[in-house]
Amino acid sequence: MRIIEHPDREALTLAVAHDIVTCLGMALRVQDRATLSLPGGSTPVPVFKALSAAPLDWDRVTIIPGDERWVPSDHPRSNARLIRRHLLDEGVPATLVDLYDPALDPEAGAAAASALVAGVLPLSVVLLGMGEDMHTASLFPGAQGLAAALAPDAPPVLPIRSETADEPRVTLTLPVLKGATEAFLMIAGPEKRAALDRAVGLPPEQAPIAALLKDMTVHYAE
Ligand code: 6PG
Repeated sequence: MRIIEHPDREALTLAVAHDIVTCLGMALRVQDRATLSLPGGSTPVPVFKALSAAPLDWDRVTIIPGDERWVPSDHPRSNARLIRRHLLDEGVPATLVDLYDPALDPEAGAAAASALVAGVLPLSVVLLGMGEDMHTASLFPGAQGLAAALAPDAPPVLPIRSETADEPRVTLTLPVLKGATEAFLMIAGPEKRAALDRAVGLPPEQAPIAALLKDMTVHYAE
């Protein structure tokens, strides 16, 4: 794990956006398409805005939310909506894989999303966030479905139900996240920095982010 501490949130945003664009650009030099996974939440929104201005062959990039809240794609809590609003609607011609299907429940929807995601793996770049409970994507400690999502033979997408989440979720599973060519974690605030320090010494069942830290670059600012 490499931790880079930035002087402020603006420097954090620029560094994360720069890493993502650099890694995608390298991938696109050696393959026809690249796949980028982006998190939900509030921390990454400035990065999405910076990415929307980045000169890249975005029409050769597929974007997948790292997880999805099981709400309609126009719902304020939808991660696909967040990405669409700050990237695609800003003129970024990337292809967005929407993990949500209004005709299916989370269990059937996760199976359908697995088939979609399987076709665009491995991830070229994954950007993750983290909660103070050391969850990442929708891999929540103590969640129903966590053990299956951490398993080496997990399908690409699985359903997750957690008392700490406002709605049922589907999430990219640990094999998919670990299989990313480049992985970045973006966290802000001393509480999350303390949570990261705690996670280092804990098993993934208690701190899901811990399963990914070994090969990850962590970008942090207070
Ligand atoms: C989500 C994210 C989730 C997020 C963390 C941090 O759907 O909410 O995938 O894993 O990255 O909860 O969220 P903040 O950046 O808003 O603190």
